Amino acid sequence: MNTANLQLRKQDQVAWVQIDRPAKLNAINKEVLRELHQIFFDLEEDDSIRVIVLTGSGEKAFVAGADIAEFSEFTPSQGKELSQSGQDKVFTFIEQMKKPVIAAINGFALGGGLELALSCHIRIASNNARMGLPETSLGVIPGYGGTQRLAQIIGKGRAMELILSCKMLNAEEAFSFGLVSQVVTQEELLSTASELAQKILKNSPFAIGQAIKSINAAYDEHQNGFEVEINAFGICFGSEDFKEGTQAFLEKREANFSGN
Ligand code: COA
Repeated sequence: MNTANLQLRKQDQVAWVQIDRPAKLNAINKEVLRELHQIFFDLEEDDSIRVIVLTGSGEKAFVAGADIAEFSEFTPSQGKELSQSGQDKVFTFIEQMKKPVIAAINGFALGGGLELALSCHIRIASNNARMGLPETSLGVIPGYGGTQRLAQIIGKGRAMELILSCKMLNAEEAFSFGLVSQVVTQEELLSTASELAQKILKNSPFAIGQAIKSINAAYDEHQNGFEVEINAFGICFGSEDFKEGTQAFLEKREANFSGN
């Protein structure tokens, strides 16, 4: 199912979501936000899907940021509302999904585009990718979680430098900072995402959901990550996937997980 600005393809338990607004380098306006919310909400509920890959259309950009033309006349309260609803409906929503979301960064990932990639569970990039948070050059700050997630992922000092200087990282620099976990050629990007998805598909969807929840808990001040892990570990023992995974190991066969 495609929407005005997104293309969705489902194949063998993997959903491929492509932001498709190439004339504006896939910049995220309110309509794109609304469509992203709807598509990710539906994919989370869709039992036929176990992994999601998010990328941008065209060869130039993943997403070149929030749509500057749209917010240039906003008042403070409109700015706050944009940030709040974007975080709730898309950025934090994706981060907290129980299905893994892989960002395949195929070019510029700037501002809201990098923030979108930061919300994904795994990031891989093509060697032409450029990443940064240039918001302070526009007189604003990252508003879709970028001040928090960039520091969590690459460390406070590096995040400060990138956000205050608006410096852009190339793919190799992003790799050396741990911002992306693989760098490949443009031609190899989607096949690399597919190989990664295939590896994830072999594992228990139920356990993967519990692992994402436990890892995220470390970054939530209202939760104790170790306690969340202890509880999630225990919950796994009651799942069909645990019975199937351990039984398959003992019977020396591949597990066939139901996700329950
Ligand atoms: N919001 C709105 N429109 C954007 C955009 C954004 N974040 N990023 C790019 N576009 C639009 C441009 O306005 C241009 O539209 P036009 O052809 O109607 O004039 C089109 O996309 C192509 O961009 P252009 O700037 O001509 O491409 P370029 O190759 O010269 O430069 C970038 C590429 C990414 C360096 C440049 O587009 C840029 O700096 N974008 C803004 C990045 C940013 O500050 N993002 C954070 C926003 S919070």
